[in-house]
Amino acid sequence: MKNGTPTVLAIESSCDETAVAILVGFDDLRVSLVASQAEIHARYGGVVPEVASRNHLADLPRILREAFAKTNLSASCIDAYAATAGPGLAPALLVGLSHAKGLAIGSRRPFFAVNHMEGHLLSPFFGEPQIPRHLGLIVSGGHTLLVSVNGLSSYQIVGQTCDDAAGEAFDKVAKLLGLPYPGGAIVDELAEHGDPTAFRFPRSMLHSNDANFSFSGLKTSVRYLLEKQPIETERARADLCASFREAVVDVLVTKSLRCLETLGLRTLGVSGGVASNRALKRRFSTLAKPAGLDIRFAPDGMRMDNAAMIAFVAAHRFAASREQGSSGDPIDTDIFPRLDWPTSPPSPA
Ligand code: KG4
Ligand code: ZN
Repeated sequence: MKNGTPTVLAIESSCDETAVAILVGFDDLRVSLVASQAEIHARYGGVVPEVASRNHLADLPRILREAFAKTNLSASCIDAYAATAGPGLAPALLVGLSHAKGLAIGSRRPFFAVNHMEGHLLSPFFGEPQIPRHLGLIVSGGHTLLVSVNGLSSYQIVGQTCDDAAGEAFDKVAKLLGLPYPGGAIVDELAEHGDPTAFRFPRSMLHSNDANFSFSGLKTSVRYLLEKQPIETERARADLCASFREAVVDVLVTKSLRCLETLGLRTLGVSGGVASNRALKRRFSTLAKPAGLDIRFAPDGMRMDNAAMIAFVAAHRFAASREQGSSGDPIDTDIFPRLDWPTSPPSPA
């Protein structure tokens, strides 16, 4: 350990990205490699768990070697190993977790089983030695969550989607338009050239008395519209993408702000793949200053699935465990395919 600053190697393999990162302290990211299998799964129109795990198994040794080669570090420089333990696809999680355990056992280093959603959740604060009290909005392909964060490891889900995740809705609309999977970023790009007021789509649960979301009705509205009125010009396609995106952004922004107010918080962290959405970023950025809010977005390279965010959580957990005199998670820690954070409606602190 150099000057008391630990070096953590983390592996992420919860879905179709095989990723490895090496982080020194909380902010010195030496390497973050991501090998995406998106093209392989695109043939099936979605991620096939068995195919994902076989590709993780084939790719991981190569990516680990590359991470060491790129940083000129050797295994003796690593103070702790970490891997995503869940939520995610069980066969895919097992590959990364088993690799990290093997490395930790072989080099007699502590091992940390990290929650993938905690990785997304804390990513807007990457580099910081303290995690502030805040509200986290996680918008990814699998989840749409509002999480009240009291500090490291103290999380309460205060809002979530009742059906599709925001990213899933983007991907489904992309599919309806014949775009490749995952099409969220393409819909966003097309929307840049369209008129967001051209079509009127529903803002489901906008006025519900809770912090929950629903995006499946919106996707169905897009489907009905396409059945009635085929989109034949580039202009109409751009208008549809812009109108759909506007509906998603309206709901995400309105409900996040209301939730901040209910909880009496001024800091919002936005993470997950949909945090790359330009309209979402613009809307949050424009209203942050006048509303007196501190709105942080996960940095580049840390919005889609990656191992840097897993290493960041592990670095915090390593620091906390050293303070408590413990040495990481038990080596027989199992995967957990589902998220198990406590859930309750938002209420003032
Ligand atoms: O965080 P992530 O890797 O997913 C999970 O961990 O589940 O994010 C992937 C999701 C996909 O649904 C993708 O279409 C969406 O994020 N996405 C976007 C954009 N970039 C990625 N959705 C809307 N606008 C974007 N610019
Ligand atoms: Zn993710």
